[in-house]
Amino acid sequence: MKVLLTGANGMLGQDMAKLFREKGYELILTDIHNLDITDKNAVAATISKDKPNIVVHCAAYTNVDGAESDKATAFKINGTGSENLSSAAAENNIPIVYISTDYVFDGTKNSPYQPNDKVAPINVYGDSKLAGEIAVKKHNPSHYICRTSWLYGHQGKNFVETMIQLGSSKDELKVVDDQVGCPTWTVDLAKAVLYLIENKMQYGVYHTCGGGSTSWYGFAKKIFELEKININLMPCNTDEFPRPANRPRYSIMDNQNLCRDWVKALEGYLSLRKEVITT
Ligand SMILES: NC(=O)c1ccc[n+]([C@@H]2O[C@H](COP(=O)([O-])OP(=O)(O)OC[C@H]3O[C@@H](n4cnc5c(N)ncnc54)[C@H](OP(=O)(O)O)[C@@H]3O)[C@@H](O)[C@H]2O)c1
Repeated sequence: MKVLLTGANGMLGQDMAKLFREKGYELILTDIHNLDITDKNAVAATISKDKPNIVVHCAAYTNVDGAESDKATAFKINGTGSENLSSAAAENNIPIVYISTDYVFDGTKNSPYQPNDKVAPINVYGDSKLAGEIAVKKHNPSHYICRTSWLYGHQGKNFVETMIQLGSSKDELKVVDDQVGCPTWTVDLAKAVLYLIENKMQYGVYHTCGGGSTSWYGFAKKIFELEKININLMPCNTDEFPRPANRPRYSIMDNQNLCRDWVKALEGYLSLRKEVITT
């Protein structure tokens, strides 16, 4: 089975490639250097030449704050790029996996978001990722739309590494406690995608985020506890750290057990991190 991966050099893409390789899949690894997804002709030519059995689309414009002042680029990559891939795949009868985000929701719900809940992004990035979802649905009926959130992985800049770094350089730290969501380890997301494919699950929208939920403050507290870092950690409100892009206050999604509990995943990430550091 041949998998064409986009965004293969990204934080998720690298763990996705590792898992699929370990499971014996043949991989066509692409990223901006060899396949710019905004180039419609290049996308069509690559897919019809390589004829993968499935496209796993991890490439994206991921700068949430940057998107507020660079809307055109965010939509070109996340919207048009995803349209190029989904239509080229459909023309060759190839299914597509599209990685989406909790930021398609406005965060006004009080109970976990379900895949068919109303979408209403409150920032440009979320809007552009929703444009990608719409394009994938419209152009390719054989799709898995996998919404994930609060992603961290060993191959990228992420909240866990930022906290560990701040924990070693600061005595006290304020972290926002009024945004709640589901931290997700890239390895668990990759496994959930593989599960959907291998079990030939029904095409559609899935919430592939870590199980359970917490606030950014709760996430930081658990990181410091597991890493035995002594720091005066204080909860604060979003208003104290204004950012260009609005964030949903509530973005807990029901993952239907597609990924394990976020604390177990964090323990896994941290113990693997220690192995990497000590070898
Ligand atoms: N990170 C999160 O917290 C989070 C949360 C929810 C959903 N997601 C979604 O999860 C997926 C993976 O995210 P990630 O954090 O792994 O992102 P990432 O590390 O930024 O990786 C994205 C990759 O896509 C590449 N790319 C950008 N523009 C491209 C283009 N025009 N053509 C081909 N490749 C292009 C990037 O290259 P450059 O680095 O050179 O730009 C990068 O290698 C994305 O769909 C993202 O929207 C992420």
